[in-house]
Amino acid sequence: DWTMGAYREQAVQAIRDQVGDARVICALSGGVDSSVAALLIHEAIGEQLTCVFVDHGLLRKNEAEEVVGMFRDHYNLPLVHADESDLFLSRLEGVSDPEQKRKIIGGLFIDVFDKHAGEIGGAEFLAQGTLYPDVIESVSFAGGPSVTIKSHHNVGGLPEKMGMKLVEPLRELFKDEVRALGRELGLPDRFIGRHPFPGPGLAIRCPGEITRAKLDILREADAIFIDQIRRHGLYDEIWQAFVAILPVRTVGVMGDGRTYDYACALRAVTSVDGMTADYYPFDHDFLGETATRIINAVPGINRVTYDITSKPPGTIEWE
Ligand code: XMP
Repeated sequence: DWTMGAYREQAVQAIRDQVGDARVICALSGGVDSSVAALLIHEAIGEQLTCVFVDHGLLRKNEAEEVVGMFRDHYNLPLVHADESDLFLSRLEGVSDPEQKRKIIGGLFIDVFDKHAGEIGGAEFLAQGTLYPDVIESVSFAGGPSVTIKSHHNVGGLPEKMGMKLVEPLRELFKDEVRALGRELGLPDRFIGRHPFPGPGLAIRCPGEITRAKLDILREADAIFIDQIRRHGLYDEIWQAFVAILPVRTVGVMGDGRTYDYACALRAVTSVDGMTADYYPFDHDFLGETATRIINAVPGINRVTYDITSKPPGTIEWE
């Protein structure tokens, strides 16, 4: 696309003009926005950029490997893989209140990023994948509630705390333009079309107390559900899809035995912007096949339900 080609060149020049020969750090989540921002800045200033991928132990199956593998090995981006799962999971032990979970994760995220940024040494700029709608939103929220949904991915509060200047090369773009720019930069379609994933990750898909055992079960079930959706060619029609592991165990039968394992809920919605959403009308064969696959393959789950709540009155996430 020639327009994006021209935009890319202009944006690269603007980054060089702004940054000069200073160092830049970027929190890379693997989401489209931070990925495109990182690639663009890398194109502009190469090794002056360092990215930090914070692994809070609440990622989906194979997610850390996929993101780190792609950016470090395929794109040669200088990338620190900060495996801080022990820290996050130990601080979340015994916590079941959803807002408390978010607070703990958000606070630790800042500490961890700050620590790794300090180790890199002397970065003057912090890169963020802020989009135009985020700019508008933060203006309209000025003086109002300080917690917005974006506060996790966009590392809210970090620049102030660290006394850094911001590089925000996507500030003028809407989501579809960011995707086009990502394609222009060679990001694979599979990456560009990824469903949104919340900053607190699996923590808010595990209502009640979070344990490693529950997270492991959740990851397996979630991977099967997403695989089913891809196999049936439905991924791109859906805004977000995931499994939540429920804080309840139910009785089942398996072979000659009785089981007493967790129930889970499948969630899939269509949406334009995440503000409102409709549950996805899967056909019953799809749901039956998915339930059978999950129960057969995931020890620890013996019951699968489908969440048919739209938003409002529900939210997309369970917490
Ligand atoms: P809800 O559950 O509020 O979600 O209908 C709307 C969208 O926001 C995402 N979400 C979050 N994203 N930090 C995030 O970065 C959060 O704490 C958070 N809570 C919800 C959710 O995945 C959906 O896309």
